Amino acid sequence: MDRATFVDDLYKLASFLSGSISETITMLPSKLLACVIGVLAAQASSKAPDNVLDSIDPLIGTINGGHVFPGATLPFGMAKAGPDTDGDNQGGFDSASTLVTGFSHMHDSGTGGGASMGNFPIFPQGNCPDDNITNCKFSVNDRSIGWKKDSIRARAGYFALSLDNSIFAEMTVTNHSALYRFTYPETPKETLPLNPLILVDTIDLSRSRATATLTIDPETGRTTGRGHYSPSFGTGRYTLYFCTDVKGASIRDIGTFQEAKPELSETEARVVGRANSGGTFVRFNTPEKDNQILVRVGLSFISVEKACANAENENPDFDFEATVATAEAEWKKKLDVVSIKTGGVDRDFEVMFWSGIYRTMISPQDYTDENPLWESDEPYYDSFYCIWDSFRTIHPLLTILDPHSQTLIVRSLIDIYRHTGYLPDCRMTFCKGYTQGGSNADSLLVDSFVKGLTDGIDWVTGYQALLKDARVQPPNWLLEGRGGIQFWNSLGYIPIDGRDSLGTGLYSRSVSRSVEYAYNDFCIAQVSKARGHKEDYETFSKSAENWQNLFKENQTSAINGVDTGFVGFMQPRLLDGSWAYQDPIRCSPLLEPHSCYLNADGGESYEGSLWLYTFYVPQDMASLVKTLGGPKKFTSRLDFLHESGLHDMGNEPAFLPVYQYHYAGRPGLSAHRAHAYIPSQFNHSLGGIPGNDDGGAMGSFIAFAMLGLYPVAGQDVYLITPPFFEEVSILNSATGKVATIRNVNFDPKYEAIYIQSAKLNGKPWHRNWLGHDFFRDGGVLELRLGRKESKWGTREKDLPPSMSTGGFF
Ligand SMILES: *[C@@H]1O[C@H](CO)[C@@H](O)[C@H](O)[C@H]1NC(C)=O
Ligand SMILES: *[C@@H]1O[C@H](CO)[C@@H](O)[C@H](O)[C@H]1NC(C)=O
Ligand SMILES: *[C@@H]1O[C@H](CO)[C@@H](O)[C@H](O)[C@H]1NC(C)=O
Ligand SMILES: *[C@@H]1O[C@H](CO)[C@@H](O)[C@H](O)[C@H]1NC(C)=O
Repeated sequence: MDRATFVDDLYKLASFLSGSISETITMLPSKLLACVIGVLAAQASSKAPDNVLDSIDPLIGTINGGHVFPGATLPFGMAKAGPDTDGDNQGGFDSASTLVTGFSHMHDSGTGGGASMGNFPIFPQGNCPDDNITNCKFSVNDRSIGWKKDSIRARAGYFALSLDNSIFAEMTVTNHSALYRFTYPETPKETLPLNPLILVDTIDLSRSRATATLTIDPETGRTTGRGHYSPSFGTGRYTLYFCTDVKGASIRDIGTFQEAKPELSETEARVVGRANSGGTFVRFNTPEKDNQILVRVGLSFISVEKACANAENENPDFDFEATVATAEAEWKKKLDVVSIKTGGVDRDFEVMFWSGIYRTMISPQDYTDENPLWESDEPYYDSFYCIWDSFRTIHPLLTILDPHSQTLIVRSLIDIYRHTGYLPDCRMTFCKGYTQGGSNADSLLVDSFVKGLTDGIDWVTGYQALLKDARVQPPNWLLEGRGGIQFWNSLGYIPIDGRDSLGTGLYSRSVSRSVEYAYNDFCIAQVSKARGHKEDYETFSKSAENWQNLFKENQTSAINGVDTGFVGFMQPRLLDGSWAYQDPIRCSPLLEPHSCYLNADGGESYEGSLWLYTFYVPQDMASLVKTLGGPKKFTSRLDFLHESGLHDMGNEPAFLPVYQYHYAGRPGLSAHRAHAYIPSQFNHSLGGIPGNDDGGAMGSFIAFAMLGLYPVAGQDVYLITPPFFEEVSILNSATGKVATIRNVNFDPKYEAIYIQSAKLNGKPWHRNWLGHDFFRDGGVLELRLGRKESKWGTREKDLPPSMSTGGFF
């Protein structure tokens, strides 16, 4: 503690005591005692409520472009069983859809690219009319059928719905296999006995299949096969293997189908071509019990044998209830590190909170032991979809809730670097995906580094991976690494007209890439410094300032011809140093909102306006605040961003500006903004996510906002705002310590959302931020709330670190 802080602390303590003395003495001794006991209890354990799974609604975000996968999955599980529908089916199921096309076993959640996986869907039917096989329905077009809107039951590890043919379809999973239970309606006595049919198709959701081969055993009905497919937001191909077993009835006959046409008693089906339905079917004799048929589907990226073994090992008994119970227990275990005292808030907020955490653990997917590409003892995770979206809140949330999994993920990323030459930015089904901005795996890795994750992580190789991103341009930088590195080194920005012969990529996003590269370099500089690479540190801490090169001081911005009054914005620049122009409001909801994606004329800022990207200097907010005219002007600019219609919370760069008031000494306004967006933009309804969930990015944003500590990803910094509950506690499963954040004077109606004073472990805490040691070592952060902004956390020395004012290195 330096002297100034010490004196200041004394002063603060004195004024705190005199200000709140009457309140202190009216506090009953028993209440005081309860507080103390509360502290002790929180230190000893932390546990989610027993019925926490009732507070998870997997259907949130299944309309309006949320693209959430609502089906059955384990935490980070590979098998994800769910219904596939027409409509917006990136995650398989769209709550606004009308038709189910099949039930499939592999999905991604919340993605913005094409529909992911959905391979080898199965589809149940009752009797073929007139008991004639040609009268059953085979192709997707023929068989698609309505589903009953009020029949859905979605829980962590379980999903069910009724089809319009009255078949009730339930599903659950293990890590690498799915288990379905189809219950057929009672057949009237006068009609033929029930002879249900279940088919396996070789298509996937985006109709990307090249070839597929299926084999069916006429005795057992076991169907095995493989198919070659394309990734949903990347290049290359992948092969998936599966193995289906049935239980509940004896086999009547089997066959194959191509499009609408079935053929009895073939044992093998070969299907070629992208769009065609084609596969095998089994027709059963009357089910032995309860009109039910069970279908177990084993999956593997290695071989058919492994697919079968995965199912046999993980689900030998086809015991549906036991499989659900195991899945629920796994989810419960993951959530048990968090406990809340709600303080009487509306139950909807609990649902938003737990569902947000739940969605954060759907991806990435643990494909360890399923990697066909290289031999390794390291873990392998996939479905990084994409790191541009996930580094900001998903991985920081895993770091506090599940540091073990985050450690495995970091190891897996480093192993991908080892074997492919680069860290990925986006990766799905063993294929390289598209890079959206900077090399943000740098920021992901460094976030874990500065938070002290070590267990088995080879940081020497990790550091090489960071250097590679920063220094060596890959042949195709749309798939990994960075483009324009020679310009970055010589000019200090990516010029809008910069072309080089070192590689190919997409020549757009010159401004957003530049500000992200600057931040990535800052992140790397922290590791350079910590590991004693002095020269690297000097290089990267210098290029971390490159954002300044694209700041055009005299740039103005008008909306509908009316000047906004703010001067100075990021702008594109040419090779010769002169300025190009992009309207600062373009790519915001106010001007061409959908014009800045990965397309050739996609503009100079990715999924956001230059208004927004002008705020992207997390490494030196002090300098940015100054550059934009000081704290007052900065605050009014940030207010304008949020209030003018410019801000779209549906993309991840929008997250941090909710909290950047902290850097202008107005932490209360960050809390105010968080409450403005939750629940108006993030809530518990089917459409309660403002954009694609992106593998849980939106979910993890909600979780952090409600926990009250917002991470500045890539830094050892959490910005403090009051939790949305009276108290939250997080158990660090690696250290066994509990971190508790407690609101005093908590108001469940959220009118008292302003911190008046804070104490950390009983001592006054003036900074409006804290570091990861809080989660590592545990402790109690107590926030006293009121209805008005206070002086707490407002002084210059209370602000989070910035490169120009110190605190990082
Ligand atoms: C089955 O139906 C098809 C087409 O409706 C018909 O051509 C065929 O003769 C029928 N088969 C039997 C055995 O009735
Ligand atoms: C699923 O895999 C994870 C990671 O290997 C493991 O911890 C967990 O126990 C597995 N769950 C089941 C039900 O086998
Ligand atoms: C804005 O600044 C640039 C140099 O940065 C200069 O060339 C240009 O003339 C200025 N524009 C106005 C309107 O002052
Ligand atoms: C819930 O969130 C969605 C998506 O952001 C929004 O459109 C809707 O208005 C919100 N609902 C409520 C009741 O605030």
